[in-house]
Amino acid sequence: MSKQNLTIKFCWLLAICGFLRPSDIEQIDDSKTEINKDYVEFVIVGPKEKRSGNPIEKVSIIHAHSDYKLCPVVTYRAYKKRIATLPSVANHSILDGVQLHYLIRNLKYNDKHVGAQRISKHINSLMSLLQLPESAKLPKARALGSTRATKLGATYDDVIAQGFWASKGIFDTYYQLSRRTRENLTQFILNSEAT
Ligand SMILES: *[C@@H]1O[C@H](CO)[C@@H](O)[C@H](O)[C@H]1NC(C)=O
Ligand SMILES: *[C@@H]1O[C@H](CO)[C@@H](O)[C@H](O)[C@H]1NC(C)=O
Repeated sequence: MSKQNLTIKFCWLLAICGFLRPSDIEQIDDSKTEINKDYVEFVIVGPKEKRSGNPIEKVSIIHAHSDYKLCPVVTYRAYKKRIATLPSVANHSILDGVQLHYLIRNLKYNDKHVGAQRISKHINSLMSLLQLPESAKLPKARALGSTRATKLGATYDDVIAQGFWASKGIFDTYYQLSRRTRENLTQFILNSEAT
């Protein structure tokens, strides 16, 4: 797999399994990552969610998958081994006086990090392979992942906790976005998993 495809796959898996936004993925502090065979635990510093207006750290645990080709834990290890081999330490993109060990890197200069926009492009380059009805908008990976999780039997509580949604109401509003095309999306995602 090329470095580009590995990066694309890794960003997409983080978004769809962790229900993470591109900006969340950018703001992972990789010096705080913990990994074992069952899951990888990321700390996101200064995400969009705030507590009483103050920045927080959110912890996102992403579990392994039995198929190694789709496994986020295996993909993280591969990404670290091939691309994020050296630390990339730089100022936080928003918070003053905070430095991050950035995870997602420039394809050419692997010691340089990339921003949320580039991460979003990586994710969308896979999402755009979905064959949607003409009227359908490309769903966000975060919406698609969470919709699929509830559809396949995950509890609301688990899904809301994983996505850091403030309430079921907020999640429902989000979830409704993709309800219209849900059947088709599921079918296409399952098909792509099978190949
Ligand atoms: C990083 O932030 C510090 C202040 O916290 C500032 O003095 C420094 O110039 C910044 N470095 C870069 C490369 O922007
Ligand atoms: C699924 O997509 C097909 C076209 O690709 C469309 O005709 C059909 O109405 C869609 N079904 C749903 C439930 O959106």
